[in-house]
Amino acid sequence: MLRSVFQYLSRSDWARSSLSGWGLARRASRRFVAGETLEEATQAVQALNRINLAATLAHLGEEVTMEAEANQARQDCLALLNAMDELQLGAYVSLKLTQIGLAIDFELCMENMLEIARAAAVNDIFIRIDMEDSSTIDQTLSIHYGLRRQGLRDVGLVFQSYLFRSEHDLRSAVEAGIPVRIVKGAYQEPHSVAFRKKSEVDANFDRMAEIALEAARDHGSGSASKNGRKPPQTAIASHDEARIAHAEGYAQEIGLPKSALEFQLLYGIRAELQRALRAKGYPVRVYVPYGAQWYSYLMRRLAERPANLWFFLSNFFRR
Ligand code: FDA
Repeated sequence: MLRSVFQYLSRSDWARSSLSGWGLARRASRRFVAGETLEEATQAVQALNRINLAATLAHLGEEVTMEAEANQARQDCLALLNAMDELQLGAYVSLKLTQIGLAIDFELCMENMLEIARAAAVNDIFIRIDMEDSSTIDQTLSIHYGLRRQGLRDVGLVFQSYLFRSEHDLRSAVEAGIPVRIVKGAYQEPHSVAFRKKSEVDANFDRMAEIALEAARDHGSGSASKNGRKPPQTAIASHDEARIAHAEGYAQEIGLPKSALEFQLLYGIRAELQRALRAKGYPVRVYVPYGAQWYSYLMRRLAERPANLWFFLSNFFRR
């Protein structure tokens, strides 16, 4: 019930404009968001790199409806890539296609994405296209296909285990050698397209992890790059210890080296688990979001774990 409320709020304009302006809400968001500026974000990544954790930087923003905003998001991403290269960060970039115009015009989004992917290729930095709600998947796959046709191959996709279609999409992606991140999924989806029970989402996650791990073994997937800018072919993104244990166990069973399986977790969530997985010898990457558009991201994190509401509210009442 609370989950659906937060998922609804994440897309509500009135709630966004009421909450985003409150200084106290902004302070509470800092548990999950590295800051509003690029400088704060790069400092957070440097701190992670010092303890041998790689990062993926995500400049927050989504569902833009004006061409100028989409173009500004592209410019911000180009500035981010420059800063990452100058500071030699152990990180790659994650971005959302609706931030660079997917909801406005497919061609606009394609042009913006091409420019970003070309700049990333020059700096040898990988780009991950985050997966948004199910209505955007076909266009996301088309944009990705367009990039590959232009020879831009260091761009990965994300597949969500709560959707019926994801196993099929994942199989096609790994057969084509596309780097994949497997997640449970964070959006409110109709029952016609998504599993309803947590046990079904979890079982599908494990099945999809097996498919991706087998593909990594069969296609001789490379290891994560030493400088943190490129992931191995398969990334398992979850804080769920049972899902992580399943992936670890299956990788061992099929003889996949640890360096070929990357675990990914979100900034501010289960920091001790991030360090424990790294200490076991796996590449670990932390998703570091930053920017002024933190509202929808924060609501999705509250939806995943409504208990975070008490943490959030305690910031309102703390003096
Ligand atoms: P689950 O929600 O079952 O949580 C398992 C345990 O993890 C909880 O019991 C709790 O201990 C802890 N936990 C989980 N969420 C927490 C929170 N918000 N606060 C505190 N503790 C929490 N989704 C998507 O649709 N498209 C995408 O592109 C991505 N990208 C992405 C990248 C990375 C690196 C991660 C880690 C996640 C995503 N996601 C995503 C989000 C993903 O779909 C999912 O919503 C969250 O990871 C939560 O699911 P878990 O697998 O962690 O399990």
